[in-house]
Amino acid sequence: MRPDFYTNTRKKLASLLNAVRVRIHSAEIKDLSARYDLNQLQKFQAILERNGFLLSQFSSILDFGCRSGRHSAQLLKVLPNAQIYGCDISKEHIEQCRKKYPRGRFVQNNVKPPIDFADSQFDFIYSYSVFTHLTEHNHRQWLRELSRILKPGGVMLHTTHSYECLFRLQFWTPESLNKYKLPKPVAEFTVPEVQYRYALDREATPEYGNSIISQGYVIKHWPVYSQSRIVEYVVGAIEAYPEGCQDVVLMRKPLG
Ligand SMILES: C[S@@+](CC[C@H](N)C(=O)[O-])C[C@H]1O[C@@H](n2cnc3c(N)ncnc32)[C@H](O)[C@@H]1O
Repeated sequence: MRPDFYTNTRKKLASLLNAVRVRIHSAEIKDLSARYDLNQLQKFQAILERNGFLLSQFSSILDFGCRSGRHSAQLLKVLPNAQIYGCDISKEHIEQCRKKYPRGRFVQNNVKPPIDFADSQFDFIYSYSVFTHLTEHNHRQWLRELSRILKPGGVMLHTTHSYECLFRLQFWTPESLNKYKLPKPVAEFTVPEVQYRYALDREATPEYGNSIISQGYVIKHWPVYSQSRIVEYVVGAIEAYPEGCQDVVLMRKPLG
């Protein structure tokens, strides 16, 4: 297809989105954003279900890197009997979550493990767009730590930005590729199957930048780092405009 076809499609989509944005009332925007969050959880749920798990079977759940608590908030609504925990390095967000969602249990953690939870405390741990930001060393430490606080037989679900994200960014918003500071054009950069790329964002937060983790890297290293089996890897499971898409990695810790 011709490059001007892509440019025109992108321009048309951007103007359509703007037109929609100005028409909707702010209350509707709030409602839409809650539906967007719920929709992401439904995607998690669909992946869990087709692998024989149900969100409702879990009694102790951790939202790792919960930020505003947007996913925890939905879980608090739909799982009235489960203990829902959220943690984040941001003190401000944890304080806000505590005020907004008093039934949830929100904890601030340090950039590096350990985290103040007991061994085997959770039967489900998930994160949305956290491993998309960590250094390779830090992500490895956290996979090990999350495995410590997961019960034997427990389930983890994490999202990543893989090469698929780069391909979609190149199509939709090529300017947002800049944050990855790729040493080569996308087509060449994505040749090695196993690769972890971390680009520092701000000097003030050296452990929080932008990471691309190839599918090959996850398949090869995550079972070792997390002592868990990969149950399913879904490329581009969650479409996220304008940040490309997120892959979903579903894992299970062995029973014994
Ligand atoms: C892109 S945001 C995603 C937030 C939330 N999961 C969501 O979908 O709205 C990434 C979050 O991860 C948090 N974070 C980064 N490193 C972390 C760590 N080591 N432990 C816990 N949270 C972390 C950041 O403070 C930030 O709130």
